Amino acid sequence: MNLISVQIPWRDGGLYMQQIIEQLEEKRKAAILGGGQHRIDIQHGRGKLTARERIDLLLDEGSFEEWDAFVEHRCTDFGMADKKIPGDGVVTGYGTVNGRVVFVFSQDFTVFGGSLSEAHAEKICKVMNQAMKVGAPIIGLNDSGGARIQEGVASLGGYADVFQLNVLASGVVPQISVIMGPCAGGAVYSPAMTDFIFMVKDSSYMFVTGPDVVKTVTHEEVTAEELGGAMTHSTVSGVCDRAYENDVETLLMVRRFINYLPANNREKPPYRPTPDRANRMEMSLDTLIPDNPNMPYDMKELIYKVADDNEFWELQPEHAQNIIIGFARMDGYSVGVVANQPKVLAGCLDIKSSIKAGRFVRFCDAFNIPILTFVDVPGFMPGTAQEYGGIIKHGAKLLFAYAEATVPKITVITRKAYGGAYDVMSSKHLRGDVNLAWPSAEIAVMGPKGAVEIIFRSDIGDEVKIADRTEQYRLKFANPFIAGSRGYIDDVIAPHATRKRVCRSLAMLREKQLDNPWRKHDNIPL
Ligand code: HXC
Repeated sequence: MNLISVQIPWRDGGLYMQQIIEQLEEKRKAAILGGGQHRIDIQHGRGKLTARERIDLLLDEGSFEEWDAFVEHRCTDFGMADKKIPGDGVVTGYGTVNGRVVFVFSQDFTVFGGSLSEAHAEKICKVMNQAMKVGAPIIGLNDSGGARIQEGVASLGGYADVFQLNVLASGVVPQISVIMGPCAGGAVYSPAMTDFIFMVKDSSYMFVTGPDVVKTVTHEEVTAEELGGAMTHSTVSGVCDRAYENDVETLLMVRRFINYLPANNREKPPYRPTPDRANRMEMSLDTLIPDNPNMPYDMKELIYKVADDNEFWELQPEHAQNIIIGFARMDGYSVGVVANQPKVLAGCLDIKSSIKAGRFVRFCDAFNIPILTFVDVPGFMPGTAQEYGGIIKHGAKLLFAYAEATVPKITVITRKAYGGAYDVMSSKHLRGDVNLAWPSAEIAVMGPKGAVEIIFRSDIGDEVKIADRTEQYRLKFANPFIAGSRGYIDDVIAPHATRKRVCRSLAMLREKQLDNPWRKHDNIPL
C-alpha cells in the first residue's frame, strides 16, 4: 500500500496527514542519501560500502529497525546551521543476526566524514543503553574522522559519554567493534574497551596520533597503514582480533562469530546441534606427540580434531602465536579454547601471550563460556627484554584471570607443564574442575636437563654423569604419575579419547555453581 495515497478522515479530509507523510518521506529519503550520491560514489570507489549497505549485510534480511533517522546536529558555528543531514552521520537501531537480537550503530563517512557530534553520540548511547536493558550484543561499525571539529568540546563530551557506556556494558553484553575506515585520536578508545575488534585490510586504520604528528614528535616517517593498519594491529600490537580482505567478508564473518556468544551475562552459551558424536575417537592423536620431547608439533591439529565438526574460530591468529585462543563447540555448546603452541617459542609464556590469553579468559568467564585449556608449556620466557617489559606483572594477568574464573574449567596436559607455567595454565590448584593428562605429560618444576644442572652443579663437565642423572630425573619426574598420585590431575587419558572425555566433563559441569567472595571489584595487575 502506498502510504502517501492513504486518506485519513481528519482535518481537511486527511490533507494535513498527507502533507506530514510527504515530509516524512522526504526526510527519510534525505537520511538514506546521507552525504549525497557524489560522496557515496567516492565511498564505493574506495572499495567501501555505505553505512546502510553494511547494516544490510550484517543483519538478517529485512530485520533492521532504524531509530533516530531524523536526528540532526544542533551546531550553529562555521555555517553548520545550514548544513543538516537527517541522521547526522550515524545509522542506529536493532535487528537480528541468525534470528538473535543485536543492536547496531554504523557511522556514515559520507556525512561530515562520519565525525562524531553531540547528537551523533546521543544516538549511539541510546542503542547502547537499550542493548543493556534487553541484554543483547552491541555491534559498532566505525568509519569516522573523529570528533566533529565544528562542535569542539560538545563532541568530546559525546565521546566520553560513549566511553562511559562501553565500561558499564563491559561484561554485561558482548560488544564488538568493526573498524571499516579511519578511527583516530581518542576515538580509538571506544573500540579498545569493547570485547573484540575486527578490521578491514587496506581500508581501515586505528592510531592515537597520525603519521604527521608522529613525524613532528619522533621524526619517524611512517604511513597510516604501517602505523595503524589492519596488518599492524593483527600482527604486532594485537589490538585487532581478526582482519579480513574487504567489507563484505568482514561483515559475514562477524555474523558467524556472534553465533558463539551468549547475548548477555545471564545467558548460558549458545547451543548448535551437531551430527558430530560426543564420543568420537580420534586415533591419529595417539601419534601427535613426537618421541623427542624437544620436537615441536602443531597444537592446532589437536584443537581442530577434538572440536565439533573440526571447527575452530581462532582469535588473534597472527599475534603472540605461542598461545592460541578462540572459540569452538563441544557437543554443541560454545567453549573458549586456550592452548600453548609448541611450534612457536616452544610454547613459552611471555608478555604478549599472557595478555592475549588473560583477556580472553576474562571474557569467557564474564559470559559463562567454559574454558578448555591444552597445556604444553616449558615455562615463562627468560631474558632482559621480558623482565624489563614487566613479564612479572603481565604474566600475573593470566594467572589472575584463571584463578578468578568460576566457569567450568577443563585442562588437558599433552606434554610439558613446567614450573610456574604449570600452575598458571588452569591447574587444579586454581580451581580447575577436570584436569586430565596424556601419558606423554611431564609435570615438573623444570625440564630434566635444566634441573640436573642445578641440583648437580658439581657434575657439570662430566657429560656421562650429567646424561645419567638427566635420564634418572626424566624417569622419575617426566611423566604424569607423580601429579596423579597427589590428585593434581584427575586421570591420565589416551589421546584418542580426548574429545569424549572433554565432552563428558562439560556435560557434568553444565550446572556448575561457584561464586567468588563479595567485593567491589578485583584489582588485576594492569
Ligand atoms: C568534521 C570532518 C571531520 C571532522 C572529516 N570531515 N573529518 N568534518 N569533523 N573531524 C569532513 C571533511 O571536511 C570532508 O567534508 C569529509 O568529512 C571527508 O573528509 P576528507 O578529508 O575529504 O576525506 P579523506 O581524504 O578520506 O580523509 C579522511 C580523514 C580526514 C583522514 C579522516 O578527513 C581527516 O584527517 N579528518 C580530521 C581528522 C581529525 O583530526 N579528527 C579530529 C581528531 S581528534 P566535505 O564536505 O569536504 O566532504 C578526535 C578527538 C576524539 O577525534 C577525542 C575523544 C576523547
